[in-house]
Amino acid sequence: MTLSVRPAEPEDVDAIADLELLAFPLDPWSPTLIGEGVAGRVPTTSYFVAEQDGRFAGYAAVSVVQDVAELQRIATAPRERRTGVAVALLAGVDGHAAAGGAERLLLEVRDDNVGALALYRREGFAEIARRAGYYRDGTDAVVLERFVRMTP
Ligand SMILES: CC(C)(COP(=O)(O)OP(=O)(O)OC[C@H]1O[C@@H](n2cnc3c(N)ncnc32)[C@H](O)[C@@H]1OP(=O)(O)O)[C@@H](O)C(=O)NCCC(=O)NCCS
Repeated sequence: MTLSVRPAEPEDVDAIADLELLAFPLDPWSPTLIGEGVAGRVPTTSYFVAEQDGRFAGYAAVSVVQDVAELQRIATAPRERRTGVAVALLAGVDGHAAAGGAERLLLEVRDDNVGALALYRREGFAEIARRAGYYRDGTDAVVLERFVRMTP
C-alpha cells in the first residue's frame, strides 16, 4: 500500500466533511467552514489529506501562528485506521509547521479518547494542562504539546 500526504484541494471538501461528521459528531465543522479553510480563506489554517493507494484516508487541519502550531483536527476514515495514516498526517503537519516557523505543536484531546491519547503518547506528546469540564458533555480536555519535528 502507498500512503501519501498532500495539501487538501477543493475536491476533497465533501470527503473531509463526511469524515468530520463521523469523527466529531458532537461538534462537527460545517462543509462551508471546511471549504473556506481548504480554499485558504481562514487565516493561519491549512488542511492536509492522506491517501492510501490514491483513496481518501484521512485529514488534518493545523493553524500556525508564529512559533506555535495548533493541531485543530485529525481523523482517519474507519476502514483505514491502524495503518499509519494519522502518523503520516502528523509528519505532514510537522513539515508545514516547521516551514512556517513554528517550534511547538499543541493540541486538545478529550480525556476519554483512548485511541487518540495512545497515538499522541507514542508520538511524543506530553500533557501541559487540563481543562475540567471543557467539552459540552462535561468531559475534560487534555492539552498536549511536543516540539515540532524538523524534516531531516
Ligand atoms: C485517533 C485516530 C486519528 C488515529 O488514527 P490512525 O490512522 O488509526 O492512527 P495510526 O494508524 O497512525 O496509529 C499509530 C499508533 O497510534 C496508536 N493508536 C492509534 N489508534 C489507537 C487506538 N484506537 N487504540 C490504541 N492505540 C491506538 C497505536 O500505537 C498505533 O500504532 P499500531 O497500530 O502499530 O499499534 C483515529 O482513531 C480517528 O480518526 N479517531 C476519530 C477522530 C479523533 O478522535 N481524532 C483525534 C481528536 S484529538
